[in-house]
Amino acid sequence: MVNNLEQEVKRRRTFAIISHPDAGKTTITEAMLLYSGAIREAGTVKAKGKKSNKFAKSDWMEIEKQRGISVTSSVMQVDYDGHQVNIVDTPGHEDFSEDTYRTLMAVDAAVMVVDSGKGIEPQTKRLFEVVSHRGIPIFTFINKLDRDGREPLELVAELEEVLGIDAYPMNWPMGMGRNLIGLYDLYNERVELRGNDEEEDDIFIPLDEDGEAQGEHTFKESSIYSQALEDAQLLHEAGNEFDFDKIANGKLTPVFFGSALTGFGVQTFLDAFVELAPAPAAIELESGDEVDPVEDDFTGFVFKIQANMNPAHRDRIAFIRIASGQFEPGMNVTLNRTQKKIRMAHTTQFMADTREEVSTAVAGDIIGLYDTGNLQIGDTLYSGKKAVAFPPLPQFTPEMFMKVSPRNVMKQKSFHKGIEQLVQEGAIQLYKTYHTEEYIIGAVGQLQFEVFQYRLLNEYNAEVDMTPMGNKIARWIKEEDLDPSMSSSRNLLVRDRFGAPVFLFENQFAERWFQDKYPDIELEQLL
Ligand code: G4P
Repeated sequence: MVNNLEQEVKRRRTFAIISHPDAGKTTITEAMLLYSGAIREAGTVKAKGKKSNKFAKSDWMEIEKQRGISVTSSVMQVDYDGHQVNIVDTPGHEDFSEDTYRTLMAVDAAVMVVDSGKGIEPQTKRLFEVVSHRGIPIFTFINKLDRDGREPLELVAELEEVLGIDAYPMNWPMGMGRNLIGLYDLYNERVELRGNDEEEDDIFIPLDEDGEAQGEHTFKESSIYSQALEDAQLLHEAGNEFDFDKIANGKLTPVFFGSALTGFGVQTFLDAFVELAPAPAAIELESGDEVDPVEDDFTGFVFKIQANMNPAHRDRIAFIRIASGQFEPGMNVTLNRTQKKIRMAHTTQFMADTREEVSTAVAGDIIGLYDTGNLQIGDTLYSGKKAVAFPPLPQFTPEMFMKVSPRNVMKQKSFHKGIEQLVQEGAIQLYKTYHTEEYIIGAVGQLQFEVFQYRLLNEYNAEVDMTPMGNKIARWIKEEDLDPSMSSSRNLLVRDRFGAPVFLFENQFAERWFQDKYPDIELEQLL
């Protein structure tokens, strides 16, 4: 039990890193763990499954072992400068799934890692859109400064144009690649000179009134320094102003530069991050009331379910974001959907390299609860007498589709039961063709299909045939607007699991063509 709940909650910083594969998410996570002292040696985070099984241990699901990747997000907790930083991992690559998006519903801030050589890439943009919808702060780290990348001004302009968010450079690179000498730090009003080698610390030189590094230094004679000064001047005159409220609402992103691989700029980033990122705030309930994080009663919601951690036991882990109060092992809570009591006995927390039983956790933290099938994504748990419910988690527009049918007609029943449960759990989205009622499943990433197929076989003993339909643009249409003759081979008409009509467009061209032909018809998408 914690002594002072308010104090504990206030020092929480719960965030996710969003980026396109290879931008450096793993490397910066590792650097953060290093600086916090959670790991002593680089390589631990990397070992999370990409290269060895050190982190993965033996109980990850089979598919994960086969592919050598981490299927679902994990959470890492580190202490940094008096703060408890909860880093919630969002998988990328082919292991992208709706869980990745849902994870973004459970954090209070996002860190967007951008490769300085590549700028804003598609997956970053998509994840940004999901985060941006929530209006939480987004911090940008432009990475790989130790390599020659694109012009910083160009990168910041692209960020604003492509993502439609204002940017405020907190610091500015002095050179890059082999010519990287340091950072001109506008926020801390200092120059950070890069140490010559790994053993040598960075040197900090305060700025004078004119924005020049104080004192006499040889670097001040270099064109790299004068270029940084010139850029800083330009930013000062033409750029956005620092505005804490706009940062807090996700309207302005503070931009940092650095190199995760060499650790340069990471500590400067972390210092500003723990200062500016919010502690857990009040969360709105379905009723419109709010839950204050420091209320005595425990409340939380399930945002992710990781199934089949141990195939022998068929157990699952439900990830719960604590919204208020504190968790104590063995505590009894009510599951809002069924009004049943649940004893939270068997829980887990993810440290840097081990899984540990949770002793205490407070609002802002994320715990994993071993579950035998009681919990669903979006469920609310509470310890008080008064029933509370958080709003349902948003559904996300799937992008890839497959036709599915049972391989063995004798197994129809288990096929249907399996699909129904997996759909309810949020593992996959289900559609039926308008006329023939064939099953179509939709996902945001390939791995969701594989997990679906694997689980149907292993948990429901149903083998399925899946026929890829490729990428489609799913758009919902109002029932009263629907005329089945609007459907063609380029826009397949289906119904979602609630019976709502949806067109699956072949591509953007097909969607535009449809809109030109039926200008009065409104096409909608999920988040
Ligand atoms: P991800 O999790 O976002 O997919 O990216 P990850 O950290 O795995 O980094 C992708 C590649 O980029 C890795 O190289 C990594 O070493 C490199 N990288 C990350 N940050 C920096 C940086 O600041 N500077 C430079 N120069 N490289 C960086 P790789 O060759 O794919 O992997 P590895 O074989 O080196 O481990």
